[in-house]
Amino acid sequence: TRTRSGQFVFNYTDDEPAVFVQFYKDVLELGSMAKLAYFNDLVVGAVCCRVETEGDKHRMYIMTLGCLAPYRRLGIGTALLNHVLQKARDHGNIDNIYLHVQINNEDALAFYRKFDFHSVETKEQYYKRIDPPHAHVLQKDMRGCMTAAEPPVPPELSTNVTDTDSMD
Ligand code: ACO
Repeated sequence: TRTRSGQFVFNYTDDEPAVFVQFYKDVLELGSMAKLAYFNDLVVGAVCCRVETEGDKHRMYIMTLGCLAPYRRLGIGTALLNHVLQKARDHGNIDNIYLHVQINNEDALAFYRKFDFHSVETKEQYYKRIDPPHAHVLQKDMRGCMTAAEPPVPPELSTNVTDTDSMD
């Protein structure tokens, strides 16, 4: 949800605050794994991701990535995703990056397709509160592209991508 001042807020019902309190705590602990995108002084986009480790295999999971509607198709999503890709390269041993996306989210599907994410699975009834409840699992293989540079953000953009812990 967007407030009149343009900030992201999260709606929750009475039975859900614990989940969102945990979400905020997680975001604060993510450090540079959570970033905000600014257009001038306005927060217009955000990304949160985390590294998941199983044995000696490391993957990166994009928990959320989004941009306010009036600021879409300006390269802000690209700037946020490039940050995630750079974090994966900095880590040096990320096998793949993956995320869940609602099956009818054509904008996000087109966006991630541009960055060579492809669907590896469809999870039925993945979401509890949105319809359709099904999600594609999109994945980008990072083996072999740990040093490749992604396309730069258009120079005319004045957007900064900033750590969530440097908002004050
Ligand atoms: N239709 C077709 N292609 C698109 C679209 C679209 N609506 N949006 C992006 N693309 C593709 C294009 O190739 C585009 O390049 P171009 O503009 O030069 O043609 C390229 O992606 C890069 O677009 P950006 O401008 O960098 O992307 P944007 O800032 O608009 O962000 C995003 C894309 C994040 C999907 C945005 O639409 C959004 O915030 N949507 C709502 C939130 C959302 O659905 N987030 C993803 C959910 S999944 C998850 O969070 C893990």
